[in-house]
Amino acid sequence: MIGPMMDAWYPVALESQLGPEGRATQLMGMPLQVARQTDGSIGIRTSDDRLLPVRLRYGHVWTSIGTPKADLFDIPEAGQPGRRLVEVGVVRVRCSPLRAVENFLDIAHFPFVHTDILGAEPHTEVEKYKVEIREKEDEVWATKVKFYQPQAAKSASTGITTDYMYRVPAPTCSVLYKTCPARPGEWDVITLFVQPLSEDLCDVWPWMALFDDESPMTDLIHFQQMIFLQDRSILENQIPRLLPLDPGKEIPTRADLTSVAYRRWLKRHNYTYGAQLVAQ
Ligand SMILES: [Fe+2]
Repeated sequence: MIGPMMDAWYPVALESQLGPEGRATQLMGMPLQVARQTDGSIGIRTSDDRLLPVRLRYGHVWTSIGTPKADLFDIPEAGQPGRRLVEVGVVRVRCSPLRAVENFLDIAHFPFVHTDILGAEPHTEVEKYKVEIREKEDEVWATKVKFYQPQAAKSASTGITTDYMYRVPAPTCSVLYKTCPARPGEWDVITLFVQPLSEDLCDVWPWMALFDDESPMTDLIHFQQMIFLQDRSILENQIPRLLPLDPGKEIPTRADLTSVAYRRWLKRHNYTYGAQLVAQ
């Protein structure tokens, strides 16, 4: 059963890469055809010829197979002048869409998975940070996260302590804010938009809005792809494949506080597509 996640918005294509031949894909098991129509607009059809709603934002084509309760979440920074908007492309991962988001929220893996790039031994400790579910926005936020990074971004030449904030505005989307080496006082924005193909298969579309006038676009894309391919090998080997939503089984450490809040928020909303529920 898909449940309330049916009503959320999901990315299904990169707008710039969508030609007249379109993209055959699926959303939570439902086959879809995303196509650019003769008048230039984009249409999304189900296999039983139902037309789905379309939103074009953050470089991607978004849709929903249900009835969205609200419009697609806003990323105010996306419209800020001077940012480079980076379409990283798609990475197919054999994992639960919820696991892909949870991995993105986890900093403790940096020294071990992204060794000498996003983290390095002996700097493995995660300092105290703040996690909350913001009731008005209905989003999970982690703030005041600090971590030592040997190479925080393509534009970084030396190690720095990077500040982070994480935001979860939708069950399979996360927005990461991190220290911007090129422009102190601003945040670079790195997002993870996950398209659930099924409960244990997803297309992941990272997207970025950076202050970086130096790095060639291909370098920015390759840097992020390299990071994400390192995550993929971890994600495809997680057991159990689906995300357990039984809080009793977790012994939270400081590093997983964000994950605990994310799971609690998912459970509260019955966002369980890709989750493993407790045997009743
Ligand atoms: Fe990672």
